[in-house]
Amino acid sequence: AEAPIRKICCIGAGYVGGPTCSILALKCPDIQVTVVDRNELRINQWNSEKLPIFEPGLEEIVKQCRGKNLFFSTDMVPALKEADLIFISVNTPTKTFGLGKGRAADLKFVESCARLIAEVCDRSKIIVEKSTVPVRSAASIVNVLKANTKPGVSYQVLSNPEFLAEGTAVNDLTNPDRVLIGGEESDEGRKAIDALSWVYHHWVPAEKIIKMNTWSSELSKLAANAFLAQRISSINAISAVCEATGADVSEVAKAIGLDSRLGPKFLQASVGWGGSCFQKDILNLVYISESLNLTSVAAYWQQVIDMNEYQKTRFGQRIVQAMFNTITDKHIAILGFAFKKNTGDTRESPAIYVAKHLLEEGACLHIFDPKVERAQILLDLDQSDEKTGVTIHEDPYEAAKGTHALVICTEWDQFSTYDYQRMYDSMLKPAFVFDGRKILNHSALSEIGFHVETIGKRPGESFQAQNWGGANNV
Ligand code: UDX
Ligand code: UDX
Ligand code: ADP
Repeated sequence: AEAPIRKICCIGAGYVGGPTCSILALKCPDIQVTVVDRNELRINQWNSEKLPIFEPGLEEIVKQCRGKNLFFSTDMVPALKEADLIFISVNTPTKTFGLGKGRAADLKFVESCARLIAEVCDRSKIIVEKSTVPVRSAASIVNVLKANTKPGVSYQVLSNPEFLAEGTAVNDLTNPDRVLIGGEESDEGRKAIDALSWVYHHWVPAEKIIKMNTWSSELSKLAANAFLAQRISSINAISAVCEATGADVSEVAKAIGLDSRLGPKFLQASVGWGGSCFQKDILNLVYISESLNLTSVAAYWQQVIDMNEYQKTRFGQRIVQAMFNTITDKHIAILGFAFKKNTGDTRESPAIYVAKHLLEEGACLHIFDPKVERAQILLDLDQSDEKTGVTIHEDPYEAAKGTHALVICTEWDQFSTYDYQRMYDSMLKPAFVFDGRKILNHSALSEIGFHVETIGKRPGESFQAQNWGGANNV
């Protein structure tokens, strides 16, 4: 049979569009994939030696496919005209003004893509919404297209949400838990769904490709992110109880996770969750629920965000309290600035929140992250240069030198392999470690002499005994 799709165009060369299309090109040598973006710098970077995003394993794949069946371009019109299928994976930030400010997703980029498609395309094609969007936005895309379509042209709009997580995008895309395709319940709708599922079937087994109506597909994406964030907020709520009682959240998480109905994943208590999706999608769910007059539903999901704010605040306050209620002019090293390991992305990173809190309290910060660019850190902290209390280091030992405390904000694997004796020797005493990710060996650190504080556990008794004249030396 004739291939239903020969050329694909993807609008948006970001964290979603770039990796998704790279895997697509790798797995479908018979399809030509062109990723377009209006940001020329980004496109140039995708065409260069240094890709605009760090994602383990991605560089090799891009190098293998680029110029063969994978292209990055700013020339949108010809790519759109030629394509049989168009992915829209532009960003959908939370609105910062107007109706729904601070909560609703801003669909202006999605809408402008739909308008451009309608304006330039002169034959029928399939439009696939890949950006996370509010439920019913496929319907808005359909409306914009319908109102502007050229005669004799028709579009099928599908929802095909992306579930990749940053840092593991290549594996998530190669071995997805499932692929969702939502479409219209009509003959043309089913035909379009089948065409997209043919594309995925190049590497994804049929039983993992789930077909459903458009709205279910759109809502599933928001719900999945809300549930994942809710698990972390739930274990973080328990971590506060642990700190107040002497229970250990790691032990509790292990015990909970062994229940096969609950499972072990996403139960790692932390300084808080971050990333571009969780906050935005939950806010969106809250906004939609309110718009539908489902007040209790809105309040329920809002709590997941509130608990995350509480967790970040609590961690910041704990640092100040432990350091004798003042950190003014104290030097503090922050290890890790990305929102999670194996990415250079800082969107909604809890490190930003913690760093700002410490700066407000008058501390001087020494920041090290293996992948985040210097300029990005300064931008996130609203600093124009490094003169005002923020120094960015290329080396973790340099960052630690002369400081009073180490604060772990990202769970980078290499952080647990550092020579902490060496850091301790170069630090002011008493030297503190605040492990916001629970990745270090706390008893080894205490042995070195550090005062260790971590999420979901009371500070070690041994430190109090040793340094502050506690009664029971252990
Ligand atoms: C629960 C815990 O499962 C068990 O581990 C603990 O020891 C005691 O409390 P139980 O209350 O007997 O056990 O039943 P469970 O199967 O958990 O169901 C509780 C309620 O949730 C029931 O009303 C059930 O109908 C309802 N339920 C369960 C749902 O509405 N939806 C579900 O998906 C699962
Ligand atoms: C998430 C979803 O996992 C993914 O399916 C969706 O497509 C996009 O949003 P991402 O934000 O890239 O992916 O990363 P994720 O691994 O979900 O981590 C989000 C945040 O939660 C990070 O800050 C991470 O450090 C934190 N986290 C995760 C915890 O604090 N504890 C955990 O147990 C897991
Ligand atoms: P995500 O994490 O959702 O992939 P990113 O911000 O990383 O978000 O990427 C979205 C990309 O979409 C950006 O590179 C941006 O320049 C691009 N983009 C947004 N709107 C348009 C548009 N109307 N036309 C072309 N590209 C766009």
